[in-house]
Amino acid sequence: MNIAVVGTGYVGLVSGACFAEMGLNVTCVDIDSNKIDMLNRGEIPIYEPRLKSIVTKNHKASRLHFTTDLKSVINDITILFIAVGTPSDEEGNADLSAVYAVANSIAESMQNYLLVVTKSTVPVGTTAKIKDLIAEKLVERNLGHIEFDVASNPEFLKEGAAVSDFMSPDRVVVGVENDRAKDIMSRLYRPFLLNNFRVIFMDILSSEMTKYASNAMLATRISFMNDVANLCELVGANVSMVRRGVGSDSRIGKSFLYPGAGYGGSCFPKDIKALIRTAKDYGYQMRILQAVEEVNNNQKEILFKKLQHYFDGKVEGLTVAVWGLSFKPGTDDMRDAPSINLINRLLENKVKVKAYDPAAMDESKSHFGDKIEYATDIYDAANNAHAVILVTEWEEFRLPNWSILAKIMQKRLVLDGRNIYNAEELASNGFSYTSIGRV
Ligand SMILES: NC(=O)c1ccc[n+]([C@@H]2O[C@H](COP(=O)([O-])OP(=O)(O)OC[C@H]3O[C@@H](n4cnc5c(N)ncnc54)[C@H](O)[C@@H]3O)[C@@H](O)[C@H]2O)c1
Repeated sequence: MNIAVVGTGYVGLVSGACFAEMGLNVTCVDIDSNKIDMLNRGEIPIYEPRLKSIVTKNHKASRLHFTTDLKSVINDITILFIAVGTPSDEEGNADLSAVYAVANSIAESMQNYLLVVTKSTVPVGTTAKIKDLIAEKLVERNLGHIEFDVASNPEFLKEGAAVSDFMSPDRVVVGVENDRAKDIMSRLYRPFLLNNFRVIFMDILSSEMTKYASNAMLATRISFMNDVANLCELVGANVSMVRRGVGSDSRIGKSFLYPGAGYGGSCFPKDIKALIRTAKDYGYQMRILQAVEEVNNNQKEILFKKLQHYFDGKVEGLTVAVWGLSFKPGTDDMRDAPSINLINRLLENKVKVKAYDPAAMDESKSHFGDKIEYATDIYDAANNAHAVILVTEWEEFRLPNWSILAKIMQKRLVLDGRNIYNAEELASNGFSYTSIGRV
């Protein structure tokens, strides 16, 4: 089966490469010609574990192709995935301009049967609008007799583990309207789920809603634990112990209960906003999600507030090492990362920032230019600093040599935004140490 994935970002490139890995003939399409040129030269525009090897292997095997020209492939494919970005617009709605631009291009050039699948995260009702748009355009082209189907197949991969998630998903959610689309999608996903076929078929509206509800649930757990952590600090409890106690309940489970500096990334912030907006459009208020967002916005300020508190508000002129810039380990993605809030606050307050991240240094340069200093490793960042602030818990940050740090820092202070360090070990090296929800 030949397929195309339109939008070659985190989701589109991973999906395309993984479908090719299963033997399909895949064309990844993007309007960004630089990105397509890079991919055709064998360069991978994003950092994602395992991605380079499967892209390279399948590109060499001529199962994975890259182009900017959708028209050149559209009539040789059975399935077209729309995997373009759906960022927030100014009011918090999902900006669907890229999705509809793709739908228009499809309608302008298709001449054969096609199954059009929305993989982008889109508000409930969007796939139906895509169907109407394509149908109208086909009629305008006197091609109203051409059959096509639409389906919704939201993506649940996690950046940092995207390839493994895609190759072995917990489940695949597919919204369809008829058996023809259902059969095609079953054939497509069977190789991924040979032992236990976990494709959950449903109607399209429910499928679109499932994606938002899943992200909303995960974000709720994080904000809930951040609230609990803040209260732990006030009452003298230790949130790490509370988390273990709570998460060991099999009804609750351990995932997404880690307090920190707030959730970020390319999905949670925008998807929470978009779901709140969708509800508003229907005259309904998502009160829990409004609180989730508010708690998160406050939490993103917490590391700066702790720094201010430690220095009695006199932070101007300090030098601070920021360890970790990506919104989580395993990715170079900095979209809505807590590090951005923190660094902006530091710069506003005339604090000198020395930052280090194992993957996101190039990305951070596009955010901060020459406003901050870019270090070569954690020690270079901490050299001469008054404080280290850990924002992203990359593995290589987990066991620093505290005795070296004690010698090279101006002041021995560590603010741990992910609760990964041991207070006693730091104290024994002469450090002051603050984390989240642990006194
Ligand atoms: N990143 C994730 O972890 C993740 C996980 C699940 C779902 N999603 C959803 O998947 C979608 C894509 O997310 P992403 O992170 O891959 O986005 P991204 O920004 O990394 O990539 C989007 C790509 O689409 C391209 N594009 C934009 N308009 C286009 C057009 N008209 N034609 C062709 N290409 C076009 C862009 O150039 C870009 O390369 C979003 O809706 C997102 O919410 C993302």
